[in-house]
Amino acid sequence: MSQKKAVITGITGQDGSYLAEFLLAKGYEVCGMVRRSSSVTKTRLESIYQDPTLGNTKLLLEYGDLADGLSLRRLLTKVQPDEIYNLAAQSHVRISFDQVEYTADVTGTGVLRLLEAMRDYAETTGKAPRFYQASSSEMFGSSPPPQSECTPFHPRSPYGVAKVSAFWNTVNHREAYGLHCSNGILFNHESERRGENFVTRKITRAAGRIKAGLQNKLVLGNLDAKRDWGHARDFVEAMWLMLQQEKPDDYVVATGEAHSIREFLDEAFGLLGLDWHRYVTSDPYYYRAAEVDHLLGDSGKARKQLGWTPKISFKELVKRMVEYDLDLAEREAHALNYTKARS
Ligand code: NAP
Ligand code: GDD
Repeated sequence: MSQKKAVITGITGQDGSYLAEFLLAKGYEVCGMVRRSSSVTKTRLESIYQDPTLGNTKLLLEYGDLADGLSLRRLLTKVQPDEIYNLAAQSHVRISFDQVEYTADVTGTGVLRLLEAMRDYAETTGKAPRFYQASSSEMFGSSPPPQSECTPFHPRSPYGVAKVSAFWNTVNHREAYGLHCSNGILFNHESERRGENFVTRKITRAAGRIKAGLQNKLVLGNLDAKRDWGHARDFVEAMWLMLQQEKPDDYVVATGEAHSIREFLDEAFGLLGLDWHRYVTSDPYYYRAAEVDHLLGDSGKARKQLGWTPKISFKELVKRMVEYDLDLAEREAHALNYTKARS
């Protein structure tokens, strides 16, 4: 069989980088969609990206944006993918309250633009790619745990509402046009590559910097919320498994274990021999207009039908993040001392 081609939107994000590594290791040719930005940062892709003009590479990057339907159509025509993984989004829940219309446009309508581009591409070429939509446990909002594929959605943020609209447009393209479109309803997954304004990474970055003497205070919001946290490396495998099934479907992907922010603080600071109560305060500045209190996933269907199971435990996840961020902080401290010594 010829080499498979995949398009990943959101390739510069946490999940995009892990998924690109995963697919390249499976022999795929990968095309990542990147949006124009004034700072050309592709930090998460550093270990796998090389400029195509320097030699053969199976990872290509093309400009495109979920807000720009024409760019999506051109991308599909150019790449002719077998599989499309739509990971691009304005993905920050609290910021979605500040950027309501933008979040609805990119995280919600952007998915419809991509689905319609795919439908037209399939109708004109007779080749229908398989489609993965990055749906989210945030769609469950205030529905009580444990949440499964049968749990009603009750989103509590503009982000959650946008993801619900994208979820249903994905289902509709499956039912109306017979396209192979699947939703992965992923619960929170973190890593050493997590954006620094999500709570887990904010905590491990601060813990490392406190240990290295670079800061002595960490301000957070609501410490009582509970999340079902897994490692992103495990979760991208589930995305791929969904597109290898004969029939498209929707799956919850979760570890089945929830912890509060306080418990995450205990674990992260504890690993460094620090008592977080001495450094952490809670400020309403970081509260949300509406909160999601308790997410705990029931991923029985994914485990049974996809054969998926997470390998990295909560404790291992926190350990990896803390060790990575301690090393980062120590290098920052070293660089600072070097600069001081020279000035
Ligand atoms: P992330 O790190 O925030 O990455 C988001 C990606 O989307 C980045 O590559 C970003 O590009 C890109 N992007 C943003 N706006 C775009 C636009 N208008 N057009 C094209 N690309 C755009 O998110 P993540 O944690 O990897 O999550 C991946 C996806 O899974 C997201 O859709 C998220 O909502 C969803 N999800 C995440 C979790 C989780 O716990 N991580 C759970 C459930 C669902 P830049 O690098 O240029 O900003
Ligand atoms: N970001 C942040 N910053 N969250 C804080 C803070 C803080 O200083 N203090 C407390 N929290 C609480 C939030 O109120 C929330 O209850 C919890 O920590 C987790 O917040 P985030 O890490 O920002 O993640 P999220 O659960 O809102 O959203 C993430 O998971 C979703 C899946 O459930 C994102 O990755 C979404 O894109 C994803 O869909």
